Amino acid sequence: MSLGKIIGQKNKDLSKRIDKQKVPEHVAIIMDGNGRWATKKGLPRSFGHKKGVSVLKEILKAAKKLGCKVITVYAFSTENWTRPTKEVDFLINLFSEVLKKEIEEIHEESTKIKFIGDLTPFPENLKEIISNSEALTKNNNKFLFNVCVNYGGRQEIVKVAKELALKSSSGEIEPHEVNEELFNSALLTHGTKDPELLIRTSGEKRISNFLLWQLAYSEIYISDVLWPDFNEFEFLKAIIDYQSRSRRFGGIESLPNESFEDSQLSS
Ligand code: FPP
Repeated sequence: MSLGKIIGQKNKDLSKRIDKQKVPEHVAIIMDGNGRWATKKGLPRSFGHKKGVSVLKEILKAAKKLGCKVITVYAFSTENWTRPTKEVDFLINLFSEVLKKEIEEIHEESTKIKFIGDLTPFPENLKEIISNSEALTKNNNKFLFNVCVNYGGRQEIVKVAKELALKSSSGEIEPHEVNEELFNSALLTHGTKDPELLIRTSGEKRISNFLLWQLAYSEIYISDVLWPDFNEFEFLKAIIDYQSRSRRFGGIESLPNESFEDSQLSS
């Protein structure tokens, strides 16, 4: 049997353990470890980012196959500008090249692509490619692919607070009308269900300013695998782990024949 067939069989075996009724609709991913992967292999960091793109394609495919509806990835944080100019330029160029190459296929699969973050500092040619890609795919409804670039969770929250403060001072809303629903509607992800699952690769146990509001109740899965080594098998493992959790949203799981008695406290 070829290696490809063996891997395919392993993935099939694992996917049989997945409850198709409980697949998360929205999975957020922090794709971490590209640089370390390349350095470990004695390669320039850019090789890690390139390999990272092919992994991303594999995961998008796997997520669609499983029945997920939204994937949101952290491709460039507001803090990533502090990297050496050469690496920042490489990443910006990579975004353009990948989009140019992949957008037709993304569109054919009826996937809608959306960029989330402040695009202002990016070069005009990237902004144009992004805007064309979003326009081309805006009516697609099978799958949503959110790419967070120059994104920061705190910055997003401050932006919403400013917008609501302005609306309040202009009399468009009353201060007491500010609630979670209104706040949600002003987020960059408005209209999209919050992620049920956050996957972070490379073993780091941090949220790193990613979707701070939206991840409030998400399950977090940390994989020790570096992003360029992540694959469908690892993704399926994350889904199985997610399905083993009980999501209580601060409440308690109701079990049959279990009741809470005040007397249990006073006795
Ligand atoms: C984190 O690894 C990865 C990034 C900062 C970039 C990820 C971007 C891609 C995979 C390209 C995606 C392209 C499109 C068009 C969506 P790191 O460099 O922080 O790794 P390290 O922690 O090992 O240094």
